[in-house]
Amino acid sequence: MNVWVIGASRGIGLGLVERYLAQGAQVLALVRAPNAALDALMATAKGRLRVVTGDLCDPDLGTRLLEELRPGSLDRLIVNAGIMGPAEEDGQWATAAELGELFLTNAVAPLRLLDVLAPRMAAEGVMACLSSQMGSVSLARSAEMPLYGASKAALNSLLQSWVAGRQPPCAVLALHPGWVRTELGGASAPVEVADSVAGLVATIEARVGQSGSAFLDYQGQALPW
Ligand SMILES: NC(=O)c1ccc[n+]([C@@H]2O[C@H](COP(=O)([O-])OP(=O)(O)OC[C@H]3O[C@@H](n4cnc5c(N)ncnc54)[C@H](OP(=O)(O)O)[C@@H]3O)[C@@H](O)[C@H]2O)c1
Repeated sequence: MNVWVIGASRGIGLGLVERYLAQGAQVLALVRAPNAALDALMATAKGRLRVVTGDLCDPDLGTRLLEELRPGSLDRLIVNAGIMGPAEEDGQWATAAELGELFLTNAVAPLRLLDVLAPRMAAEGVMACLSSQMGSVSLARSAEMPLYGASKAALNSLLQSWVAGRQPPCAVLALHPGWVRTELGGASAPVEVADSVAGLVATIEARVGQSGSAFLDYQGQALPW
């Protein structure tokens, strides 16, 4: 099984790489810079881990990655990369550059990559983007982080529009990983990376052979868009 994790240097992305390697998959990990944790994993992965350098926001990333695989051979594409955005969550004070980076990274670039790589997906493949329950418009849980929540709501909206327009044969998921103890989640987050990742992988694998879009948490529960 071929698994690609986009944004794999640390946190949930690194955990997904470890989990899929442990399950015997061939994994491609995309990172922005050389990474000691992945170098260490490579030493034990027996040729099943390939680390590629790139930036999700690079408009040529998808075209470059297309050359890595023949059509129909990518089983799982997981766009994990995401940022919290400006420290000042009040949109009134955020700069245009900060807002552009937030919405490009969290919403536009993931869908751009899905669109370019869709022809490489296996018939029973799964495409997934790391979203957040803060992106749920109906739950409206983003009172403290409205910009971040809006960027994930934009991701969810773009994902649904893309699936409706493109109708890919495989499942396309927006995933909430829980509130996870990472650099982004912070030290007081209650969920360990390993627990989040175990749940995310089980949730992804349960969708094999299905089509359409779904917004799910790491325990496989459907969330309202
Ligand atoms: N932790 C939580 O509680 C939580 C909750 C809901 C949703 N999420 C979502 O889950 C995903 C992973 O979060 P995390 O907690 O693991 O965050 P994290 O520890 O901050 O890791 C973020 C990852 O994204 C990568 N990244 C960011 N921008 C990138 C870009 N332009 N190109 C390539 N890689 C990029 C980072 O790489 P660098 O090392 O190069 O910066 C890093 O590997 C994110 O999408 C996040 O929004 C997290």
